[in-house]
Amino acid sequence: MTCRQQHERGAAPQSKIPVTILGATGVVGQRFLRRLANHPWFEVQHLAASDRSAGKAYSHACQWHLGGEPWAGFGDKPVQPCTPEAAFAPVVFSALDTGPAKEIEPLFAQAGAMVFSNASAFRMEPDVPLLIPELNAAHLRLIEAQQRRRGWPGAIITNPNCTTVMLASALAPLHRSFGLQAVLATSMQAISGAGYPGVAAMDIVGNVIPFIRNEEPKVETESNKILGSLLEHENGPGLTPAPFKVSATCTRVPVLEGHTLSVSVKLARPASLQEVRQAFEAFVPDTAGYGLPSAPARFLVLTDAEDRPQPRRDVEEDEGMRIHVGRLRSCSILDWKFVVLGHNTERGAAGASVLNAELALAQGVLR
Ligand SMILES: NC(=O)c1ccc[n+]([C@@H]2O[C@H](COP(=O)([O-])OP(=O)(O)OC[C@H]3O[C@@H](n4cnc5c(N)ncnc54)[C@H](OP(=O)(O)O)[C@@H]3O)[C@@H](O)[C@H]2O)c1
Repeated sequence: MTCRQQHERGAAPQSKIPVTILGATGVVGQRFLRRLANHPWFEVQHLAASDRSAGKAYSHACQWHLGGEPWAGFGDKPVQPCTPEAAFAPVVFSALDTGPAKEIEPLFAQAGAMVFSNASAFRMEPDVPLLIPELNAAHLRLIEAQQRRRGWPGAIITNPNCTTVMLASALAPLHRSFGLQAVLATSMQAISGAGYPGVAAMDIVGNVIPFIRNEEPKVETESNKILGSLLEHENGPGLTPAPFKVSATCTRVPVLEGHTLSVSVKLARPASLQEVRQAFEAFVPDTAGYGLPSAPARFLVLTDAEDRPQPRRDVEEDEGMRIHVGRLRSCSILDWKFVVLGHNTERGAAGASVLNAELALAQGVLR
């Protein structure tokens, strides 16, 4: 029985699917492990990291930063090198830095694995899905073109930059309802977004750093791909990016978890406050009815509280998978402005990737 047939019957896989975590010792890798340790559909087979860690027990290679059971109960497991020979599994979650990801992820796809990547290395390739399952579940079909073009039995499937996830999620209801012309966004990004040890305490405590290397180009382009239209071409499905412009300023602030953005938008057709509210509140995610284990109970929540959302108070809702929108009001230069918040290492990284894999399983892409 294929996974599609399993999903159509509303059933989980008959047995758990073995998975590998690449970059398992890092900030995102640990979150992958904690999410996957007791996952109903997936089972951790390999933990892999750099040559600095390979051969050591996970508890020796990894400084555990999270709550709950230390090393998620995997402290004795040996860390493997990031090669298909040592660490192949049919599903691979990658929390590698972009440089190593560029070399290593294709080796696993070539070996037949479905690679769910957090890295930016392949995100903007035209045949690589850049997924937020609630917004563009159909884009998973891009892997047909990818496999044909590259001759891989496996594939690479990416999730967006940890700031883009919040931005694109808030833009989607407006884009679908009214069209978008222009977006102006300023991010206030948590220090966990810089990995570990990340930004030095003496630089960030009581401070704002108005620059994050390589961040703004990602935030200014990825939403257009995510909200683009899937079209049939001769060589299989392809994407036409959504046509609006995004201008972004990305800053680092002394917050541990949670990226907040202040966003102003110009719509393609005028809309009243009531209509904009309605667009947020009535938004139906593409994943509705799939029953994906990591999908939040509520994907996008619009609040009327005048001082919310706040990272410390709101970011852990729905295990970090909820997107919070607030402070919706008119903008005297563009049309509307608001604040959006989400969990950068869950919604923006590990949780996003696991949700992508669940979608792939539910759509019959993992067999
Ligand atoms: N932090 C976030 O909020 C966030 C959000 C979205 C996406 N991302 C992306 O997720 C990825 C990981 O980020 P992170 O914050 O978890 O970084 P991190 O804490 O620095 O972890 C990096 C991981 O990659 C491994 N690694 C480094 N060089 C390697 C090599 N040459 N070969 C094999 N493995 C290697 C490290 O292993 P060792 O321990 O052995 O060195 C470690 O496991 C990055 O691409 C980042 O852009 C991060």
